[in-house]
Amino acid sequence: PIYSLLTFLGKKEMDSDEFRIKGKELIDYIADYMENIKDERVTPDVEPGYLKSLLPREAPVKAEQWDSIFKDFESKILPGITHWQHPRFHAYFPAGNSYPSILGEILSAGLGIVGFSWASSPSCTELETIVMDWLGRLLNLPKFLLPFSDETENGHLSEKDESKGENDELEKESDDVILDPKPVGGGVVLGSASECVLVALLSARGNTLRKLKSQHPFVEDGVLLSKLVMYTSKLAHSCVEKAGMIAMVKIRLLDHDENYSLRGATVEKAIKDDKSNGLIPFFVSCTLGTTSCCSFDNLVEVGNVCKREEVYLHVDGAYAGSALICEEFRYFSVGLEVKDKYMLTKALSVDPIYLRYKEMDKAIDYRHWGIALSRRFRSLKMWFTIRSYGLEGLQRYIRGHVRLAKYLEKLILGDSRFEILGKVVLGLLCFRLKGPNSLSQNLLFVLNDSGKIHMVPSMLDEKYVIRFCVNAENSTEQDMDAAWDLIKSYADQIIRQFEVDSPPMAESTQFPEITSKLRRIRFGISKMVSDPRINGQKKYRRTATTLRLFSDSSKYLARKCSIVEKSDEDLE
Ligand SMILES: Cc1ncc(COP(=O)(O)O)c(C=O)c1O
Repeated sequence: PIYSLLTFLGKKEMDSDEFRIKGKELIDYIADYMENIKDERVTPDVEPGYLKSLLPREAPVKAEQWDSIFKDFESKILPGITHWQHPRFHAYFPAGNSYPSILGEILSAGLGIVGFSWASSPSCTELETIVMDWLGRLLNLPKFLLPFSDETENGHLSEKDESKGENDELEKESDDVILDPKPVGGGVVLGSASECVLVALLSARGNTLRKLKSQHPFVEDGVLLSKLVMYTSKLAHSCVEKAGMIAMVKIRLLDHDENYSLRGATVEKAIKDDKSNGLIPFFVSCTLGTTSCCSFDNLVEVGNVCKREEVYLHVDGAYAGSALICEEFRYFSVGLEVKDKYMLTKALSVDPIYLRYKEMDKAIDYRHWGIALSRRFRSLKMWFTIRSYGLEGLQRYIRGHVRLAKYLEKLILGDSRFEILGKVVLGLLCFRLKGPNSLSQNLLFVLNDSGKIHMVPSMLDEKYVIRFCVNAENSTEQDMDAAWDLIKSYADQIIRQFEVDSPPMAESTQFPEITSKLRRIRFGISKMVSDPRINGQKKYRRTATTLRLFSDSSKYLARKCSIVEKSDEDLE
């Protein structure tokens, strides 16, 4: 009522008094949400475009009251939310939420700084360097990668550093580029793993082109660019392919071995083949913990090939990288080989006059380490989180998820109708119903359609698997039991219907159309896991098309399991 009165008196925008009240209410709201989320459907029951009809077409001209805006959030926006913090959300990977990180984010937003250079907010840059150093040490990264290694002071090389001479040489090479002051190792907080791959690729491309240009000064840049080729596994996340598209370089998607791992010999052969065809290999991206099944590329072998062939090696640890804080998982990173950060900052440095300041020869400017100029104070969020958990708490978090995945693995292996593909190393496992792909495909459709649990599929050697990731921070064995009960009970239905409706057939003769269709579609997992069309939602063309490819009995099965096969008109 007070605010209605204030609004009536002409005080429209939120002031600090109202902010105090609404802010406290919002914190309570978030805490209630986290506590009660388990009672909700995991996925929303809405159709694409649902929100458009519920909200005005035009932004408001007059200021509105917070309470009425919030009411709309609750009644219109919240029903369309997929609850990533739900204990039965097992899709994708964990969002890594926590109470300290939420508060850190609020504080960062409250300060509202834009830290594009040291001068634009010194502690934003300096805390980032410190937090990156902490993180590097927690992950047990090689000393030379750390901002504050024994040889550096305040993040910069001291006089006694041996690589100083080398850096000086490089600096002379290109006087036109203004560089950070001779840093050695270091890290930077970027917005996403996709951005990390792109930045690494752009810097490798920039350095390679610069080197080629010095060797062939009369060859056009475009001609040199057309020769560059990069490599990654077929199981690499699609962001690697996308980075290649943006950088306009050729990309080879290489086969993995029977353990879904990219091997050195495969990379070496591809590099040799391309070289003999006049191409210039320059970049390999490996993954520690692939999105499809959490497999690990062989860093030792691939790293050695990269060293021999003088190509850059990038390592994508978007999911499994954080497990390096636990000693027992450090074997993943054996063979980690990287080029120094000096190369990275060199490729992306531009320094217009309005961004210069008097201390710039003594400070790090993270704008040279990525694409964005404006940078949020993300390290504050990390700082609060790391301090609030401590190494022990973070290790407990990761080990807890691994323990639960192994617990579920045991339950699944105890049921002879199921099989698990790939090794269960961290908090992710891939399972399927033995038999034709359509069984597991139907199982996932009905599970997701129920709204009681959410998972996404993957394709491993043409076998359709259901990915199960332990995501919620405080997941328990009871949560695994509950998920397993759901999976089993829907599997009972699917198998019963399959036995009733399908005459026995050899695996190779079942659903030939869908098998060949699946073969044609490149089931890069990243496409699959991010594509709602295959996650049991109705009204999508590919889902319906896929179902139409089923044999008659399977169509019947799909209908029995309440997967609605839409006609073409429905789909328009
Ligand atoms: C291994 C891997 N790399 C890269 C990405 C892309 O991550 P982002 O969404 O942060 O760009 C993902 C996303 O799941 C991933 O699993």
